[in-house]
Amino acid sequence: MLAVLLVATSGSSQDKKPAKTEEDGKWMTADGEPTYNITADGKVDWYTYSGFRRYHSECHVCHGPEGEGSSYAPGLVESLKTMKYQDFMAVVAGGRTVNRPDKTSVMPALGDNVNVMCYLDDIYVYLKARADGALPRGSRPERSGEKPETAIQNEKTCMGS
Ligand code: HEC
Repeated sequence: MLAVLLVATSGSSQDKKPAKTEEDGKWMTADGEPTYNITADGKVDWYTYSGFRRYHSECHVCHGPEGEGSSYAPGLVESLKTMKYQDFMAVVAGGRTVNRPDKTSVMPALGDNVNVMCYLDDIYVYLKARADGALPRGSRPERSGEKPETAIQNEKTCMGS
Protein backbone atom coordinates (compact mmCIF):
# COMPACT_ATOMS: atom_id res chain seq x y z
CA MET A 1 0.00 0.00 0.00
CA LEU A 2 2.73 2.44 1.00
CA ALA A 3 4.64 1.74 -2.19
CA VAL A 4 1.54 2.55 -4.18
CA LEU A 5 1.04 5.85 -2.35
CA LEU A 6 4.64 6.86 -2.95
CA VAL A 7 4.35 6.18 -6.66
CA ALA A 8 1.14 8.15 -6.78
CA THR A 9 2.39 11.24 -4.96
CA SER A 10 6.13 11.58 -5.46
CA GLY A 11 6.66 10.41 -9.01
CA SER A 12 7.87 12.80 -11.65
CA SER A 13 5.39 13.81 -14.29
CA GLN A 14 6.67 10.98 -16.44
CA ASP A 15 5.71 8.33 -13.90
CA LYS A 16 2.29 6.90 -14.46
CA LYS A 17 0.10 6.83 -11.39
CA PRO A 18 -1.37 3.30 -11.24
CA ALA A 19 -4.96 3.47 -12.45
CA LYS A 20 -6.00 0.79 -10.01
CA THR A 21 -4.61 -1.74 -7.56
CA GLU A 22 -5.73 -5.17 -6.42
CA GLU A 23 -5.77 -6.84 -3.02
CA ASP A 24 -7.18 -10.34 -2.55
CA GLY A 25 -9.36 -9.99 -5.63
CA LYS A 26 -10.71 -6.52 -4.75
CA TRP A 27 -9.83 -3.70 -7.15
CA MET A 28 -9.51 -0.07 -6.04
CA THR A 29 -9.00 3.15 -7.96
CA ALA A 30 -6.09 5.45 -7.13
CA ASP A 31 -8.66 7.50 -5.17
CA GLY A 32 -9.44 4.53 -2.93
CA GLU A 33 -12.84 3.76 -4.39
CA PRO A 34 -13.90 0.25 -5.38
CA THR A 35 -13.76 -0.58 -9.06
CA TYR A 36 -14.14 -3.50 -11.45
CA ASN A 37 -11.63 -5.55 -13.38
CA ILE A 38 -12.28 -7.37 -16.63
CA THR A 39 -9.74 -9.75 -18.14
CA ALA A 40 -8.82 -9.81 -21.83
CA ASP A 41 -11.13 -12.78 -22.34
CA GLY A 42 -14.04 -10.83 -20.86
CA LYS A 43 -14.25 -12.39 -17.39
CA VAL A 44 -15.13 -10.12 -14.47
CA ASP A 45 -13.66 -10.10 -10.96
CA TRP A 46 -15.70 -11.79 -8.24
CA TYR A 47 -17.10 -8.53 -6.79
CA THR A 48 -18.44 -7.37 -10.13
CA TYR A 49 -20.07 -10.76 -10.61
CA SER A 50 -21.57 -10.52 -7.12
CA GLY A 51 -22.86 -7.03 -7.94
CA PHE A 52 -24.52 -8.29 -11.10
CA ARG A 53 -26.41 -10.89 -9.06
CA ARG A 54 -27.30 -8.54 -6.20
CA TYR A 55 -28.44 -5.80 -8.55
CA HIS A 56 -30.83 -8.23 -10.18
CA SER A 57 -32.26 -9.38 -6.88
CA GLU A 58 -32.54 -5.99 -5.09
CA CYS A 59 -32.73 -3.15 -7.63
CA HIS A 60 -33.86 -4.48 -10.97
CA VAL A 61 -37.56 -4.59 -10.11
CA CYS A 62 -37.56 -0.75 -10.19
CA HIS A 63 -34.42 0.19 -12.14
CA GLY A 64 -34.84 -2.34 -14.96
CA PRO A 65 -32.63 -5.18 -16.16
CA GLU A 66 -28.89 -4.43 -16.40
CA GLY A 67 -29.39 -0.92 -15.00
CA GLU A 68 -31.12 0.30 -18.14
CA GLY A 69 -34.00 2.00 -16.31
CA SER A 70 -37.77 1.65 -16.44
CA SER A 71 -40.82 3.88 -16.62
CA TYR A 72 -40.69 3.88 -12.83
CA ALA A 73 -37.04 4.60 -11.98
CA PRO A 74 -33.99 6.05 -13.76
CA GLY A 75 -31.37 3.95 -15.55
CA LEU A 76 -28.44 3.65 -13.17
CA VAL A 77 -26.07 2.96 -16.07
CA GLU A 78 -26.77 6.53 -17.16
CA SER A 79 -26.63 7.88 -13.58
CA LEU A 80 -23.20 6.39 -12.91
CA LYS A 81 -21.67 8.12 -15.90
CA THR A 82 -21.55 11.21 -13.68
CA MET A 83 -22.65 10.23 -10.17
CA LYS A 84 -19.91 10.02 -7.55
CA TYR A 85 -19.39 6.91 -5.40
CA GLN A 86 -20.21 8.77 -2.18
CA ASP A 87 -23.43 10.17 -3.62
CA PHE A 88 -24.45 6.73 -4.84
CA MET A 89 -23.91 5.25 -1.36
CA ALA A 90 -25.82 8.10 0.29
CA VAL A 91 -28.89 7.85 -1.97
CA VAL A 92 -29.18 4.09 -1.54
CA ALA A 93 -28.76 4.21 2.24
CA GLY A 94 -30.92 7.27 2.86
CA GLY A 95 -33.39 7.13 -0.01
CA ARG A 96 -34.82 10.11 -1.83
CA THR A 97 -38.31 11.46 -2.40
CA VAL A 98 -38.89 13.94 -5.21
CA ASN A 99 -42.24 15.62 -5.81
CA ARG A 100 -42.73 16.14 -9.52
CA PRO A 101 -45.74 17.75 -11.19
CA ASP A 102 -46.96 14.39 -12.52
CA LYS A 103 -45.96 12.09 -9.66
CA THR A 104 -44.06 11.68 -6.45
CA SER A 105 -40.91 9.67 -7.14
CA VAL A 106 -39.59 7.56 -4.28
CA MET A 107 -36.25 5.83 -3.96
CA PRO A 108 -36.68 3.81 -0.74
CA ALA A 109 -34.04 4.10 2.01
CA LEU A 110 -32.27 0.74 2.02
CA GLY A 111 -29.72 1.47 4.77
CA ASP A 112 -31.23 -1.19 7.08
CA ASN A 113 -31.31 -3.89 4.42
CA VAL A 114 -28.25 -6.11 4.87
CA ASN A 115 -28.91 -7.83 1.54
CA VAL A 116 -28.26 -4.45 -0.06
CA MET A 117 -25.76 -2.77 2.26
CA CYS A 118 -23.41 -5.76 2.67
CA TYR A 119 -23.02 -5.85 -1.12
CA LEU A 120 -23.37 -2.21 -2.08
CA ASP A 121 -19.75 -1.86 -3.24
CA ASP A 122 -20.36 -4.90 -5.45
CA ILE A 123 -23.50 -3.36 -6.95
CA TYR A 124 -21.61 -0.11 -7.48
CA VAL A 125 -18.70 -1.73 -9.37
CA TYR A 126 -21.07 -3.74 -11.53
CA LEU A 127 -23.03 -0.62 -12.50
CA LYS A 128 -19.80 1.34 -12.99
CA ALA A 129 -18.54 -1.31 -15.43
CA ARG A 130 -21.84 -0.98 -17.30
CA ALA A 131 -21.66 2.83 -17.23
CA ASP A 132 -18.09 2.84 -18.57
CA GLY A 133 -19.10 0.57 -21.43
CA ALA A 134 -16.70 -2.12 -20.17
CA LEU A 135 -19.45 -4.69 -19.72
CA PRO A 136 -21.74 -5.05 -22.72
CA ARG A 137 -25.47 -5.46 -22.44
CA GLY A 138 -27.21 -8.75 -22.81
CA SER A 139 -24.59 -11.11 -21.44
CA ARG A 140 -24.40 -12.87 -18.13
CA PRO A 141 -20.90 -11.98 -16.88
CA GLU A 142 -18.52 -14.84 -16.19
CA ARG A 143 -16.28 -14.53 -13.17
CA SER A 144 -12.55 -14.99 -13.37
CA GLY A 145 -11.94 -16.49 -9.95
CA GLU A 146 -13.30 -18.02 -6.77
CA LYS A 147 -14.82 -15.93 -3.99
CA PRO A 148 -11.95 -14.18 -2.16
CA GLU A 149 -11.31 -15.08 1.48
CA THR A 150 -11.77 -11.40 2.42
CA ALA A 151 -15.24 -11.42 0.88
CA ILE A 152 -16.18 -14.55 2.85
CA GLN A 153 -15.01 -12.96 6.12
CA ASN A 154 -16.59 -9.54 5.46
CA GLU A 155 -19.88 -11.16 4.56
CA LYS A 156 -19.98 -13.10 7.84
CA THR A 157 -19.26 -9.94 9.85
CA CYS A 158 -21.69 -7.78 7.89
CA MET A 159 -24.55 -10.28 7.93
CA GLY A 160 -23.97 -10.81 11.65
CA SER A 161 -23.62 -14.59 11.45
C1 HEC B 1 -39.15 0.43 -5.05
C2 HEC B 1 -38.42 0.85 -6.20
C3 HEC B 1 -36.90 1.02 -6.09
C4 HEC B 1 -35.98 0.08 -5.67
C5 HEC B 1 -36.21 -1.34 -5.17
C6 HEC B 1 -34.69 0.70 -5.82
N1 HEC B 1 -34.82 1.97 -6.30
FE1 HEC B 1 -33.34 3.31 -6.65
N2 HEC B 1 -34.68 4.73 -7.18
C7 HEC B 1 -36.04 4.52 -7.31
C8 HEC B 1 -36.65 5.73 -7.86
C9 HEC B 1 -38.14 5.91 -8.18
C10 HEC B 1 -35.62 6.67 -8.02
C11 HEC B 1 -35.72 8.11 -8.55
C12 HEC B 1 -35.86 9.08 -7.41
C13 HEC B 1 -35.88 10.49 -8.00
O1 HEC B 1 -36.83 10.80 -8.72
O2 HEC B 1 -34.93 11.23 -7.76
C14 HEC B 1 -34.40 6.02 -7.60
C15 HEC B 1 -33.15 6.61 -7.61
C16 HEC B 1 -31.97 5.96 -7.36
C17 HEC B 1 -30.66 6.55 -7.48
C18 HEC B 1 -30.36 7.99 -7.89
C19 HEC B 1 -30.19 8.02 -9.40
C20 HEC B 1 -29.89 9.38 -9.96
O3 HEC B 1 -29.66 9.46 -11.18
O4 HEC B 1 -29.89 10.37 -9.22
C21 HEC B 1 -29.76 5.59 -7.18
C22 HEC B 1 -28.24 5.71 -7.17
C23 HEC B 1 -30.49 4.38 -6.88
N3 HEC B 1 -31.83 4.65 -6.99
C24 HEC B 1 -29.90 3.17 -6.58
C25 HEC B 1 -30.63 2.00 -6.28
C26 HEC B 1 -29.99 0.74 -5.99
C27 HEC B 1 -28.50 0.47 -6.01
C28 HEC B 1 -31.00 -0.14 -5.68
C29 HEC B 1 -30.88 -1.57 -5.25
C30 HEC B 1 -30.01 -1.83 -4.12
C31 HEC B 1 -32.25 0.61 -5.80
N4 HEC B 1 -31.98 1.89 -6.17
C32 HEC B 1 -33.50 0.05 -5.55
C33 HEC B 1 -36.72 3.36 -7.00
C34 HEC B 1 -36.16 2.21 -6.49
